[in-house]
This record gives sequence, structure tokens and C-alpha cells, in this order.
Amino acid sequence: MAVYELEQTDQLVALYTIIRDEKTKRDEFIFCADRIIRLLVEKATEFLPTREKTIRTPTESEYAGKEFVGKICAVSIVRSGEAMEKAVRDICQKIRIGKILIQRDENTAKPILFYHKLPEDIAERYVLLLDPMLATGGSAVKAVEILKGKGVNESKIIFVNLISCPEGIKEFTGKYPEVKVITGVIDKSLNEKAYILPGLGDFGDRYFGT
Ligand code: PRP
Ligand code: URA
Repeated sequence: MAVYELEQTDQLVALYTIIRDEKTKRDEFIFCADRIIRLLVEKATEFLPTREKTIRTPTESEYAGKEFVGKICAVSIVRSGEAMEKAVRDICQKIRIGKILIQRDENTAKPILFYHKLPEDIAERYVLLLDPMLATGGSAVKAVEILKGKGVNESKIIFVNLISCPEGIKEFTGKYPEVKVITGVIDKSLNEKAYILPGLGDFGDRYFGT
């Protein structure tokens, strides 16, 4: 199992305190969520491959460094995953972004798949899978099922997530032990409506205002 939680520094906890607060207005929610998402995506890039590369600097010295290798893409689970696309584009220039539209049924919390559109050569790429909330795990499990159906190797998927909980992590990693999970924080549990506790409510509603 490969689950990485961001270090809970005071600065990070202060950002989470703002986005969790029911009184926080939408513009501040977006600003602080975007800051955390940026940290998560930067963390996720640490799991992408590199190789050694030596260059010469303007001081005529040699520098033994690294270069990025391997093709990557991002796939967002619509709607909330789309909020993570800007950070991915800011960090990975010209990255291709696929979409998987999955919505939880409001009564059963079971995921329903409506649509997907992915890069044709996705099987050759590392995939940053984007969804801010991992609750029961149903949506993320379905998304990986689609990626694997397109030939993506489980070990090349990095799931980037803002808030998770033990139930979702158990379900997801039980099914896909080789997928790396980068989560901002692992919360306590789920309530009877399958919302994360303490959580932040409905991410999509708060970020998009709909
Ligand atoms: C939310 C969230 C995840 C899912 C997590 O999406 O963005 O996709 O719920 O819950 P799960 O782990 O129990 O599947 P939702 O279906 O509410 O749609 P939205 O992104 O449009 O808000
Ligand atoms: N989706 C959300 O937006 N929040 C939760 O707590 C669970 C699923």
C-alpha cells in the first residue's frame, strides 16, 4: 500500500481550517483550496521518473543533474476533479487532460459513470488521477477500472486527493495496491450520508458555487 499524507505543518493546518469552516466565503475557499492543491500536485511529481543528465553551466562547470522522462497525462474525475486541473497545467506545461464524468447517486452514494474521454495513447503514460474527495472510494475505484481497461498499468497511476478517510483508503488500496495515493489529510470517518467527517461538506458546491 502506497499512501502519502502531506506533512501537517501549522501553515497547512491553517489552510485546512479555512476551507473546512462553514463560514468561509467562496473566493477564500477557492484561494486556499488552490494553494493546497498546488502542494499536492508538486508532491505527486516526486513519483514521476527521471534519469541522470549532466549539463554545463555558464561558469563552465559541469553539473550532474536529472531530467524528466516518460510521458504523463492528467485525468480529472468531473466535476470536482476539474478544480485541480489549473495546478496541474501550471506545473506540467502542455499536459494532456482526460476527463471521466462520475457522479455519486445522492441517495445510495454509489458512483454512476456517464462519460469519459482520454488520450489515445494513455496506456504509455503515467497518469495523475485528480479528485479532491475520497469518501467511500467508489468513484476513484470506478475511475481506475476505466484507466486499467484502457491498458494503463496500475503502478503508473498517481491518485491526487485533498481529503481522504480510512474507509475510502481501505476500499481503494484494497482494490489497487500499486496505485500511489497522495492525500492532503486523512480525516476521521464518514457520516451516515457518506460525507467525510470533519471534512468540508460538498467540495464541488463550495468551489464552483453550484
Ligand atoms: C464527490 C467527489 C468524489 C466523490 C467521492 O463527487 O468529488 O468524486 O464524491 O465520494 P466517493 O469516494 O464516496 O465516491 P460527486 O459525485 O459528489 O460530484 P461532484 O464532483 O460534482 O460534486
Ligand atoms: N464528496 C464531497 O464533496 N464531500 C464529501 O464529504 C464526500 C463526497
